[in-house]
Amino acid sequence: MTFDDLRASSQGCLACDLSKRRTHVVFGEGDPKSPLVLIGEGPGEYEDKAGRPFVGRSGKLLDKAIEEAGLRREDLYITNTVKCRAADWSTGRPVNRPPTEAEVEACRQWLVPQLGMIQPKVILCIGAPSAKNLIKKSFQITKERGLYFPCEFARTAIATLHPSYILRNMHDGGDGGYSLLVADIKKAWAAAERLMRDPEKTLPEKQGSLF
Ligand code: URA
Ligand code: SF4
Repeated sequence: MTFDDLRASSQGCLACDLSKRRTHVVFGEGDPKSPLVLIGEGPGEYEDKAGRPFVGRSGKLLDKAIEEAGLRREDLYITNTVKCRAADWSTGRPVNRPPTEAEVEACRQWLVPQLGMIQPKVILCIGAPSAKNLIKKSFQITKERGLYFPCEFARTAIATLHPSYILRNMHDGGDGGYSLLVADIKKAWAAAERLMRDPEKTLPEKQGSLF
């Protein structure tokens, strides 16, 4: 199976209830040969409509941070923990919500082979659901972001703040944690470059410590 075959077969997925209200299965985009993969939470309204990850307000902020970190979005691979939009529809107007554990578990059937084919050096988890899925269940985003952790699907994984969290926290002249997002992207890329140059590089013994 090729990467495109995997993407194509994901498009009809009915493995969880998020399939009922979605417009698009948002598989991911970018360079599938990138040493760095960014993994968000899941598509929102705009991503569901466009079929592309991170194209709404959060996406604009992420793009700015990627650029400020000295990178180009097209050189990375960007995807999400769940590929369909999670929203609460009970009030008639959909309100985005984090995916449930069961939805995250169901969608690993796409994420796991996707990462198996990309074989990234480094995974950058964007937000808590992604870090809980890929690093450890007990991950605490505000305490443990920016640190290297072992990961089954890459040589190492780092987590950072989600742009939607940053947007909610930007007030009174504060940056809401935006500078941390930029710093974490830079750090993740530095680790990916280092591991490309020196594939034998040993990782730190101590969880969370620096390279
Ligand atoms: N938030 C995410 O986590 N992913 C997207 O693709 C868009 C917004
Ligand atoms: Fe399938 Fe994932 Fe969409 Fe659920 S969220 S229907 S598992 S692609």
